[in-house]
Amino acid sequence: MNKHPTIARSTLHSSSRHDSGPKHVAGVAEYIDDIVEPEGTMHAYLALSTRAHAEIVAIDYTAVKSAPGVIGVLTADDILGENDVSPSHQHDEPIFAIGKVHFWGQPIFAVIAETRDLARRAAHLAKVEYRDLPHAIDVRAAQAAGGKLVTEPLKLERGDVEAGLASSPRRLKGSVVIGGQDHFYLEGQIALAIPGEDEDVTVFSSTQHPSEVQLMVAHALGIHQHAVTVNVRRMGGGFGGKETQGNLFAAVAAIAAKKWHRACKIRPDRDDDMTATGKRHDFVVDYDVGFDDHGRIHAVDAIYGARAGFSSDLSGPVTDRALFHCDNAYWYPAVRAVSQPLYTNTVSNTAFRGFGGPQGMMAAERWIENIAYTLGKDPLEIRKANFYGTDTNNITPYHQTIGDNIVHRIVDELETSSDYQARRQAVLAFNAASAVLKKGIALTPVKFGISFTATWFNQAGALVHVYRDGSIHLSHGGTEMGQGLYIKVAQVLADAFGVGLDAVKIMATTTGKVPNTSATAASSGSDLNGMAAYDAARQIKERLVVHAAKLYQCDEAEVLWVPGGIQAGDQFVPFDELVASAYLNRVQLSAAGFYQTPTIHWDRATGRGHPFYYFAYGASVSEVTIDTLTGEYIVDRVDILHDVGKSLNPAIDIGQVEGGFIQGMGWLTTEELVWDDKGQLRTKAPSTYKIPVASDVPPIFTVKLAEWSINAEPTIGRSKAVGEPPLMLAMSVVEALSMAVASVAEYKIAPNLDTPVTPERVLMGCERLKREARG
Ligand code: MTE
Ligand code: HPA
Ligand code: MOS
Repeated sequence: MNKHPTIARSTLHSSSRHDSGPKHVAGVAEYIDDIVEPEGTMHAYLALSTRAHAEIVAIDYTAVKSAPGVIGVLTADDILGENDVSPSHQHDEPIFAIGKVHFWGQPIFAVIAETRDLARRAAHLAKVEYRDLPHAIDVRAAQAAGGKLVTEPLKLERGDVEAGLASSPRRLKGSVVIGGQDHFYLEGQIALAIPGEDEDVTVFSSTQHPSEVQLMVAHALGIHQHAVTVNVRRMGGGFGGKETQGNLFAAVAAIAAKKWHRACKIRPDRDDDMTATGKRHDFVVDYDVGFDDHGRIHAVDAIYGARAGFSSDLSGPVTDRALFHCDNAYWYPAVRAVSQPLYTNTVSNTAFRGFGGPQGMMAAERWIENIAYTLGKDPLEIRKANFYGTDTNNITPYHQTIGDNIVHRIVDELETSSDYQARRQAVLAFNAASAVLKKGIALTPVKFGISFTATWFNQAGALVHVYRDGSIHLSHGGTEMGQGLYIKVAQVLADAFGVGLDAVKIMATTTGKVPNTSATAASSGSDLNGMAAYDAARQIKERLVVHAAKLYQCDEAEVLWVPGGIQAGDQFVPFDELVASAYLNRVQLSAAGFYQTPTIHWDRATGRGHPFYYFAYGASVSEVTIDTLTGEYIVDRVDILHDVGKSLNPAIDIGQVEGGFIQGMGWLTTEELVWDDKGQLRTKAPSTYKIPVASDVPPIFTVKLAEWSINAEPTIGRSKAVGEPPLMLAMSVVEALSMAVASVAEYKIAPNLDTPVTPERVLMGCERLKREARG
């Protein structure tokens, strides 16, 4: 037995390094493609539709079947259960298309071959005969074609919108176009299925949602969930792109594995991954806003058209969340927001960091900005004039009262620390003197609601085993995608037991240990799983206290948890000794923990409730320089102050803020999805789809956590979720670019730039404003 137990430093709020960090650097972190393949592993490759909308008249597989290395072709006929992987359970997302294809890139069949390369080559050899149908690719086309929706829209309404608009001294009507985004996770979609005896199958899936993959595989095979085990040690990034999009790959691998009784792996090339999997929804928001001469908003009426793609997937909850963030941090005395999750002949769009929230907030920032240009004021003044109050003016469009508003303090502190006012004056002076290069600066706030809006998802489980030597197994339902969830929950557990982190072994996530889990999503991974693990530790600790009181003949109240073990009366007992004696006294050293988020409720039919447990806040200041002759620009400096409550791990959290901001900046500036008129995605590789790289990080990039913040709700360690909110800090880059463009017309015309604000759009914006200024 270890005579020198590791004495825990307080692990809970420490910057413990990411448990996978050293393994990432050394290249030994195991991803699914690194798993040693079982003898005889087959490889699957999807054959994708090359029409946006068409009937399938005939398919000739002759050349596919006779191609070298081909074991067989998998079609809808091979699906013994249901040919569907729809996460909304609307049964509208076939694994393999039957009779009709709804977008360019839709899977029609899969080739199963001895190697991946042979499968991939053979997948192109089928002769598919199509009869074309009319297609609508984008929001405007879908609206023009009748506005068919993929799922029920939502309406949020509070106050008298008609009266508010009619009585407003000023009105602004317009549209804002907000682009989509590909997840560009480094590890693409992948699954490995290994058949077992009876109905059993084990699936390794790169998924944020193992329980749903389990359910989908069971449905597809027509078997019980208990026969399916889904494992995931880590993902090489998910960003929402693996909340549902792994379902199809897992199902295909599992169907093939059971059919041939051999293991089967599937991993698409990057371009096929980008073509065949859903992305962030692009939106067109049509708005009518009433306001006064002080820039105070009186009423907002807006319709949120979103490119949902061909099926429902998560478009319902995503467009709901857009509406939940139509206010960002602003109080609307009267508001009506309506969602339009539009059927389009494109891949079905899905979760992406922020989950519709960023699009809702971009629209809010657009009318704030336009009000500022109309009134000739600094947009920051308009923002402040419209912030939610703390005791009044604090009811959201969904009738939740905001009880934790700290936006004023966040913005004030950042305004000071970033020297915003002086720098804005300097930018104005620079622009007055510079003919070609122009600068812009902007400060934007973020308020983001934390909880799944589908209330039942706000639950989590954990399974904790303490072994005789005092070492601990930690399993919970959350998945690791780089965000640091595993280390945070390990910190919670180590802290609870008073042991060092090295006593805790973080186990890969599996449906066999913790059942019925939610996706690791909505930024709630550590809130939910941290609490579930804490609950498991509590149960084991309670048993150990009873045991120690008996053994050391003291009152239970005299047994105290201290770093490294317990204090029983005047006796210190190291954790491992305590555990060893508990085992000999037949004390159960294992527990299943559970947590459900309290206080939340939501009634979608009436648009009322308290869907969010709390809000996370933040703000950023961006400064940019544009070249008005070429449209090229650089982001010179970014300052961020972000609220994570009492941080569980400041190093991880700062990483999340930095990464989220840069990913948001990519979304809003360089990442452009272009479909041609045939409905084919043309930007499906890093050569044409520009994600930010290291050199795009602003040369001055100051990221601070609001260290004084503490969650008003009793979350784990009083922390707040951090995963998604920082992405929306990137809105200040758009606003800064806007200001630089507006400078060419003396800030008198609102630039109304579509996002992403690519250099081309900056250039076109400058040209248009110069033209309009000339009259
Ligand atoms: N960070 C990394 N490195 N990789 C990711 O895939 N996903 C983001 C965010 N941060 C992601 C990430 C998204 S979309 C969410 S919802 C959260 O992490 C999920 O994890 P959490 O709930 O544990 O924060
Ligand atoms: N956020 C993220 N993912 C989700 C949500 C949500 O609110 N609802 C369902 N999946
Ligand atoms: Mo994140 S979009 O909720 O996976």
